[in-house]
Amino acid sequence: MSQVDLVIRGAQVVSPDQIITASVAIDGERIVAVGHDDVMPAGREELRADGLFLLPGAIDSHVHFRDPGYPHKETWKSGSAAAACGGVTTIFDMPNTNPPTGTLEALRLKHKAAESSYVDFGIHGLLGDDTIENLEALLEAGVTSFKAFVGNTFGNLPAPTDGALLEGFEKLAPLGIRTVVHAENSSILLRRQQRMESAGRIDTLAHLAARPAVAEIEAIGRVLTLAEWTGARVHIAHHSAADSLFLIREAKRRGVDVTVETCPQYLLLNTDHAARLGGIMRLNPPIREARHNQPLWDALLDGTIDMIATDHAPHTPEEKTRESIWDCDCGFPGVETQMPLMLTEVNRQRATLMDYVRWSSVNPARAWGLYGAKGVIAAGAHADIAVIDMNRQGVLSQNRLQTISRISPWHGRAVQGYPLHTLLRGRFVMRDGKLVTEAAGWGRSVKTVQTMPVARPRNTEHYTSAILSTPPGVAPNATPAPQEPL
Ligand code: DOR
Ligand code: ZN
Repeated sequence: MSQVDLVIRGAQVVSPDQIITASVAIDGERIVAVGHDDVMPAGREELRADGLFLLPGAIDSHVHFRDPGYPHKETWKSGSAAAACGGVTTIFDMPNTNPPTGTLEALRLKHKAAESSYVDFGIHGLLGDDTIENLEALLEAGVTSFKAFVGNTFGNLPAPTDGALLEGFEKLAPLGIRTVVHAENSSILLRRQQRMESAGRIDTLAHLAARPAVAEIEAIGRVLTLAEWTGARVHIAHHSAADSLFLIREAKRRGVDVTVETCPQYLLLNTDHAARLGGIMRLNPPIREARHNQPLWDALLDGTIDMIATDHAPHTPEEKTRESIWDCDCGFPGVETQMPLMLTEVNRQRATLMDYVRWSSVNPARAWGLYGAKGVIAAGAHADIAVIDMNRQGVLSQNRLQTISRISPWHGRAVQGYPLHTLLRGRFVMRDGKLVTEAAGWGRSVKTVQTMPVARPRNTEHYTSAILSTPPGVAPNATPAPQEPL
């Protein structure tokens, strides 16, 4: 091999099974060799990385970049800049924008907004009662996956009825397409919230009281039932409660194709932080009591939970600090702080770097059909790499974040372990801790490299033949033959 574009020399290359000292040669958008330094080609550019670790860029399955609809909270440019500076090279954007991503026109607006992205992206289309007819067209036009807001949250999109959810799964199962589910029971939480409000509760903990863990348990159970029946692939967003893990464990054991994410806030924060944080902490599902934290770690370590996402949900400082908890918008930014927070826990030996790579990169790449192109540092893969320094210490500051939403529960938290450089398809999007502003627009849709493995639909023939078309040999208005008494 003659000269290549870039050679990163002497790094520790991390995969889920091992950490090896190796050099990485990159040409164009792809990695062309990983191996001993002596056998590397020369690079037009060379980067020494002794003592540094190379991770496949993180893939965040859950962000809200707010455009179209709420550009005062976040834009694709600001949100994806935050991703690039957080070692994240691929994000999946949620559909509760305005208009919601459930029509071709809304998708066109989202693609337009995404033209300024620093990082690669997937787009979750909306699965709701009104969008069932659009699912195939949305897939054709570029969505990678769907999202069902079974639990009510920002944007107030109506929860799909169970009928629509089943029908959506029946349609998507044969296609192998995965649906993200916000799994909380809307009727429980809306009723509880009304009760709290009528009782005059406006404090931070009233939000948790309105959204008890049973709302999550019930919704996960229902979604898994429909997924198992149809064979549809599902993804449980922001898993927050210890109590619902048994459902996931049992479903996985039975072969249901369910993947699960949790977020740093559910692993590291709890109600003890409520007094200090107030409305900043309001998000859905809520941050719960301390007893939930360790079981979520255990579930990550034993594979019940597959990955870390962030639910990056920016709102302005003013929208997060109103007097009544019910007036504070739900969610906070996270895509830029996930990696330093998790690396700090690795430094505390709560997990290994190999575990982290599995949760941040390998498992999301597999869940969304990207593995091979993404999620791995190997010849042939996209050169999506986070170069990290596990020794670098600092204090997270909301004032230095790229997001428009400069308000974060992590403000003031000491961390050890930072991404120094982020490469996306061979190009630096962050270098020496600084955003490479000329890289705006380098990000593109992952649709072209997505291959969902062959699906195993079950029981979907009821939908396709019996419901949508008249079975052969039956007159459209034929009176059914009288039933034999049982
Ligand atoms: O707290 C949340 N905020 N949870 C969600 O599920 C949505 C998000 C948002 O869009 O703000
Ligand atoms: Zn979300």
